[in-house]
Amino acid sequence: MVKAVRMQQTGGPEVMEYVDVELGQPGAGEVLVRHKACGLNFIDVYFRTGLYPQPLPAGLGMEGAGIVEAVGPDVTYVRVGDRVAYAGRPCGAYAEARIMPADNLVRLPDSITFETAAAMMLQGLTVQYLFHRTFPLQGGETILFHAAAGGVGLIASQWARAIGVTMIGTVGSDEKAELAKAHGCTHVINYNKENFVQRVREITDGKGVPVVYDSIGKDTFINSLDCLAPLGMMVSFGNASGPVPAFNLSELASRGSLFITRPSLMSYTAKRDDLEQMAAQLFSMVESGKIKIDIHQRYTLSEVAQAHRDLEARKTTGSTILIP
Ligand SMILES: NC(=O)c1ccc[n+]([C@@H]2O[C@H](COP(=O)([O-])OP(=O)(O)OC[C@H]3O[C@@H](n4cnc5c(N)ncnc54)[C@H](OP(=O)(O)O)[C@@H]3O)[C@@H](O)[C@H]2O)c1
Repeated sequence: MVKAVRMQQTGGPEVMEYVDVELGQPGAGEVLVRHKACGLNFIDVYFRTGLYPQPLPAGLGMEGAGIVEAVGPDVTYVRVGDRVAYAGRPCGAYAEARIMPADNLVRLPDSITFETAAAMMLQGLTVQYLFHRTFPLQGGETILFHAAAGGVGLIASQWARAIGVTMIGTVGSDEKAELAKAHGCTHVINYNKENFVQRVREITDGKGVPVVYDSIGKDTFINSLDCLAPLGMMVSFGNASGPVPAFNLSELASRGSLFITRPSLMSYTAKRDDLEQMAAQLFSMVESGKIKIDIHQRYTLSEVAQAHRDLEARKTTGSTILIP
């Protein structure tokens, strides 16, 4: 038996129950991982509320780091005793230990601690694909990135600086603005006080930006389109304020033949080679010191409901981990 978080129904943070669950043995292609730390991500809120549906009852959590304790038949990527980490489906990372597919796991270099891994796998791999695959940045661009002081945001701020990209970041408070700036975000806009479309136009001498990375969704979507230069790319990768409402495609035409994509990490890591290359680049960014993973909040696993409340109330900055 291990302690794990389960939910019988979708809803508020109270639907997450901290319970004993039977683990069993790993089947073909599976491993048993004992977690040292688990990651907290905004996607966990979407699964908890039912915005992203999954069959119930269900586990939650998509990111963890720990040690392989048992392997099933036909497992080739990892062995018993390996230090590993992962980000992705199936949900169930909020647990002392779990059984999961081996092909989601990457082996951790000795230089990366379990806590750092649990704090960065999902958010760091996301920045990797957003900056290098969804809209490959060459260096020299000026980009707009929302929620620049969040978990994904602080990694993006540092990554942009490291590759010579000028990042305009938006944040919800002056304290968060300071934090994003200190992490390499060149221009920071407090969107609760300032009109970010106007500020982006000022900063770019009226030209607009070639790409907007928008994870806020409902509240920022249309204004984000207004920040783009003609032929620009709208990367809508999250919905912290709610899903983007239906819109007319001619909104893209009238703003200058814009492109739009709605990416998800799981599509970018679906091929094993891609996952390994992405993880290798993330690890090297951290090992070189170009990116420091800021764990600003730590909770025990049993305090997960409070962790969700704080994340949804916009009280957190940087990354958050849960300790089993
Ligand atoms: N598609 C993908 O592959 C992918 C992968 C990872 C993450 N994401 C998305 O990226 C975003 C950031 O994820 P994260 O885990 O790093 O979270 P986070 O940025 O640490 O937290 C979300 C932030 O969004 C901002 N926000 C704006 N409106 C909000 C609202 N109505 N309610 C709550 N927050 C609001 C808040 O910052 P301010 O106070 O500064 O506004 C808040 O701190 C999420 O939307 C997530 O779903 C997408």
